[in-house]
Parts: sequence; structure tokens; C-alpha cells
Amino acid sequence: MKFFSSLCLAASLLLSSVRATSQSSTASFTNNIRFLFDVDGNQIDAYGSKVQYFDGKYYLYGNSFAITGVAFGIKSYSSIDLVNWAYEGFLYNPFSETPCNASGGCGRPHILYNQKSSTYVLWANAGTSGYVVATSSSPSTGFEFAASTAAIDPTFAGLQPADFSVESFGDEAFLVFSALNFRDPRAGSIWPPIFQTLHISPLTDDLMNTTLVSYNITSPSFDLIDQETESPDIFKRNGMYYVAASNTCGYCNGSIGLVYRSKSIQGPWTRQIISGYSCEGQVEGVLPLTDPKTGKTSYVWHSTSVPGGPRVGFGGHIFQPLQFNADGSVQDLNCASDAAFSVPFTLGTGTGASGMASTSTDGSPAVAAYSAVCDSDQFILHQTWTASKSGALKEVSVNIAKSVQTVPLTLNVFKFGELSDLIGPEYKYTLLGSASTNQTYLSFVFNATTVYTNKTVSAGDRLGLSIAGSDFAPYCHLEYDVGASSDQVLLQQGVGQYSWRGSAGKSSPIYERVGKGVKFFAIIE
Ligand SMILES: *[C@@H]1O[C@H](CO)[C@@H](O)[C@H](O)[C@H]1NC(C)=O
Ligand SMILES: *[C@@H]1O[C@H](CO)[C@@H](O)[C@H](O)[C@H]1NC(C)=O
Ligand SMILES: *[C@@H]1O[C@H](CO)[C@@H](O)[C@H](O)[C@H]1NC(C)=O
Ligand SMILES: *[C@@H]1O[C@H](CO)[C@@H](O)[C@H](O)[C@H]1NC(C)=O
Ligand SMILES: *[C@@H]1O[C@H](CO)[C@@H](O)[C@H](O)[C@H]1NC(C)=O
Ligand SMILES: *[C@@H]1O[C@H](CO)[C@@H](O)[C@H](O)[C@H]1NC(C)=O
Ligand SMILES: *[C@@H]1O[C@H](CO)[C@@H](O)[C@H](O)[C@H]1NC(C)=O
Repeated sequence: MKFFSSLCLAASLLLSSVRATSQSSTASFTNNIRFLFDVDGNQIDAYGSKVQYFDGKYYLYGNSFAITGVAFGIKSYSSIDLVNWAYEGFLYNPFSETPCNASGGCGRPHILYNQKSSTYVLWANAGTSGYVVATSSSPSTGFEFAASTAAIDPTFAGLQPADFSVESFGDEAFLVFSALNFRDPRAGSIWPPIFQTLHISPLTDDLMNTTLVSYNITSPSFDLIDQETESPDIFKRNGMYYVAASNTCGYCNGSIGLVYRSKSIQGPWTRQIISGYSCEGQVEGVLPLTDPKTGKTSYVWHSTSVPGGPRVGFGGHIFQPLQFNADGSVQDLNCASDAAFSVPFTLGTGTGASGMASTSTDGSPAVAAYSAVCDSDQFILHQTWTASKSGALKEVSVNIAKSVQTVPLTLNVFKFGELSDLIGPEYKYTLLGSASTNQTYLSFVFNATTVYTNKTVSAGDRLGLSIAGSDFAPYCHLEYDVGASSDQVLLQQGVGQYSWRGSAGKSSPIYERVGKGVKFFAIIE
């Protein structure tokens, strides 16, 4: 009894010291806010993402789609607050000869931490050659590939290892993987093109291989839904294993959202469809977030969202905490476009990330329901705003993505007087800076493109950014719905329109794109 109470005392002391050092914060997620940006204002270029907490920081991992338009290399971003993300670069040099660039681009990366060897272990899907593994002493750089790949249960030697997740829970670690069967005679002319089944294997102690033993993850009916499962992730709650998954679709615009659960990895598994279209996304991971005040963990389901492939980079991510019933089953996802969620979590340690965008003075909001607009083939845009302070206007940046253009995109930054003058004939604005860009310098995601100006402006000056580059194929930018009272008026001008219009001959060829704003930021120092 005495021993027990002193144990309790020790435990509560331990708990209070954990509480003292772990700070609580609240993460906010909204269904219609899908694009994520780093602190420099570049779109977070990591798809098929997984977020892990390592050494006091959250790391968001995923495949880059910026360079080739398909999965090429693996990037990571770090954050202590799940809001301000610092770009950490590629995990390995994707331009060097690696087991990844033969096929598959090293898809759906997942990382484990091996406590015994203080090593981060990367798993990735290299297509026909299966799962490649790489190790590093850092969670974000310097990964070196093992000479051989991880082996799966030889029962499935004839199938191709595909989407997967690896995760550890204390002493246990598992691979959950789908295996593609390209030779199943039941394949249809249109669909399904392939059959794929989901399996779970314990990992070896070094976390670099499986034990070659596996169990099927399937409902008792083993129907077409069980045989088209992909993009799995695994988590454990109250002694129950949960596997989140979707059905065959490849970063598509919405697949069913599946949750399997079982007390044992050997099954039997209970299956639920928790969403018909997964809020127009495909699940990519589940992020456990723990409130240090209560010790309670939320399991945040997140997906790669519309429009999906082939322009995966034009999609974003949506996050929402799963809601559990008393029997351990999961409630349906809430796909209302304005649904918002608050999740208490443990703040990371150290200084938060900051960059050009997070310290900018003027611009559109850092976080808003941005969507891709591709119309530079038809319109020249003039985004206007008011300088918030006096000083040197160092730079103006706008998020632009490319496709197959041949003509450059010209960005002009200028100062003007009144809006009515700007849209009138013969008006001359003061050019503050100019930049020209093209496919060579742009990417397939919305990186920030910058015009350096370094010209003095005064608080209250009316400033503008023109975006012009008409071609057969448009460049793309991001837009959002501006508030009613915004002085950030967006003007549009049809390509080739340089004369009075209308029957009275009094309509300017330049007119307002009502209620819309371009994503941009400006730095005045
Ligand atoms: C891998 O990438 C390197 C650098 O781009 C290239 O030289 C090599 O041919 C690629 N290998 C394969 C198998 O695609
Ligand atoms: C995984 O195990 C297989 C079979 O034992 C072996 O051939 C392979 O080299 C191992 N791979 C790694 C990365 O350890
Ligand atoms: C497990 O999956 C394999 C591969 O799809 C299949 O051949 C086998 O029948 C399944 N076993 C059970 C018990 O469902
Ligand atoms: C995505 O799928 C949903 C549900 O089927 C549909 O309403 C929506 O129009 C689709 N969006 C795109 C971009 O395909
Ligand atoms: C982009 O511009 C640079 C320099 O002006 C030029 O060398 C390059 O060929 C251009 N790229 C394309 C795709 O037009
Ligand atoms: C996009 O931004 C990243 C930094 O987030 C940078 O490393 C990359 O080179 C940029 N890509 C292009 C094409 O400018
Ligand atoms: C910006 O302008 C200031 C003042 O004219 C000058 O001292 C500074 O060198 C300029 N910086 C750059 C990068 O041009």
C-alpha cells in the first residue's frame, strides 16, 4: 500500500514535470482552406503526406510534384505550431541516381525513429522494385538508401507492393501495405483496372524490414471494396488497431473513406465507410495530436484534396479530427464546406519558423480559401492595394504555377493615384519594378515569384501589381473571396483590349473582378 502510494506520487510528479515542459495550443482546421504555404510564401509541395513529431518539432513529409508534375523526390517541412512551416528541403538528392527514380518516384514516404540506434528510417514505394529503405541521423536530410529493399510476405511475391504506411507503437512496429494484382482475370475493360488487397506485417527490430509474416486486412465479405484498398495509414487507440484507407483512385477527387478496426492485427477486422467521397479527397494519413493538459489524443484524418491527378499540385490537404463512439467505431466525416475544427495539441519546442511571407507587411491573408485560377491566356490582371507604412518597398511576390507556356509572364509593380485614373485612357503610372519569368523558372506548384523593387513608398500610397502573359496555355495564380470593404481591388483587362468599349463609347477595357483577390504579399521596410 505504502509502496503503491509512493509510486503514485512519483507518477504524478513525473506527469506534472511533463505538463510543465509541454505547452498546449489549439490547431484550427477548416474544410475549405486546402492550400498550405511555408513561411516564405511557397505552396507546401508535399503530397501523400504524413506528419510526424520528432525531437520537439512536427515534420510534414510528402512527395514533391513541383519539378516534373508527377511524384519526384521527397520534401519535408517543420513547424512547432502546425501553422508556420519552414521548408527543410529534400530528404535525399532526387537528381542523383537512387533506387527511386527508376519508377514510382518513391511514393507515399513514411519515417520511423529507431530509438536504439538514434536513426530515422525512411520507407518509400519504388514501384516494381518494392519498398526502399534509407536511414539518416536527421529527420529531414542526408538519407542514404540501403543496398537492398525491404521484403514482404513471400505469399505475395507475384504481386506488386503499392501504397503503404509504417508506424510504431512502443515496442511494436508494422507495415500496412496494399499489393497490386495486375493479372486478376476479373479486371474490367473500364474498371476495376487492377485488384489490390491490404495486408499488415510486423517489422523487424531494426525497423528496416518485415518479418515476412502477414495478415489480411479485410472485412469478412472480402468484396470489391476490400479488394480495391489503397493509401492506408495505421493508428492505435485504447488497445484497438485502426487502419484508414481509400479505394483505387490515385490522388483523385474523392474516394470512399474506409476505417478498419480490430483488437488484433490478425483480425477479424470490422470495416466502416465513413465518407462517400472523403470530402473530395483521398486519405493520406492520420495525425495523432495529444493535449498535454488532459493527456487525451485526437486522431486527425487528412487527405490530399481536389482537383487530384494529374494536377496533384493544384490540390491541397484537408484535416479533421475523427469522432469515436463508445464501441470504438468512428463517426462519418463532416464534409460541410465551412466545417471548422479545433484540436488541442502539444506545441513543439524552440523558436517558431519565420520567413519572407510570415513577416510581410502588406498582401492578401496568409490563410484563406484559395483556389487555382488559370486565365492569363484571356486576361491581364492588376491587383491593387494601399501601402500600410512608409519605407522601402523591398519586394512583391505572387504565387504562380506553370504548365506548357511558350510566352513569358511579365510582372510590373507600380504606384498610381486614383482607381478611376488608373482605368482611364492615357494614364501613366509610376513603374517601381518589373520581372519576367517563364517555364524555366516556374514549377508545377504555386511557388512565390518575386519582383524586387527597393523603391521608397509612403503609407497610404496606392500600389499595384500587373500580371500579363497571354499564350495558348494560361499561367495559374491563386484567388480568394475578398471581404466587402477591402481596398485590395482586383482589375481585369481582356487580352488585346486597349480601346473604349460600349455603345456610348465610355466603358473602360479595364474593369473590376468583383469580390476577388489574388494571393500576393509585399515587404516594406
Ligand atoms: C536517375 O536520375 C539521374 C539524374 O537525373 C539520371 O542520370 C538517371 O538516368 C536516372 N535513373 C533512372 C533509372 O531513371
Ligand atoms: C529484408 O529481408 C530480405 C529477406 O530476408 C533480405 O533479402 C533483404 O536484404 C532485407 N532487406 C533489408 C533492407 O534489410
Ligand atoms: C488474403 O488476400 C489474398 C490476396 O488478395 C487472397 O488471395 C486471400 O484469399 C485472402 N485471404 C483471406 C482469408 O481473405
Ligand atoms: C469532385 O467530386 C465531387 C463529388 O462527386 C463532385 O461534386 C465535384 O464536382 C468534383 N470536383 C471536381 C473538380 O471534379
Ligand atoms: C526563359 O527565359 C530564359 C532567359 O530569358 C531563356 O533562356 C529560356 O529559354 C526561357 N525558357 C522558355 C521555356 O522559354
Ligand atoms: C520553389 O520553392 C522552393 C522553396 O520552398 C525552392 O526550393 C524551389 O527551388 C522553388 N522552385 C522553383 C521552381 O522556383
Ligand atoms: C535599396 O535602396 C537603398 C536606398 O536607396 C540602398 O541603400 C540599398 O543599397 C538598396 N538595396 C538594394 C538591394 O538595391
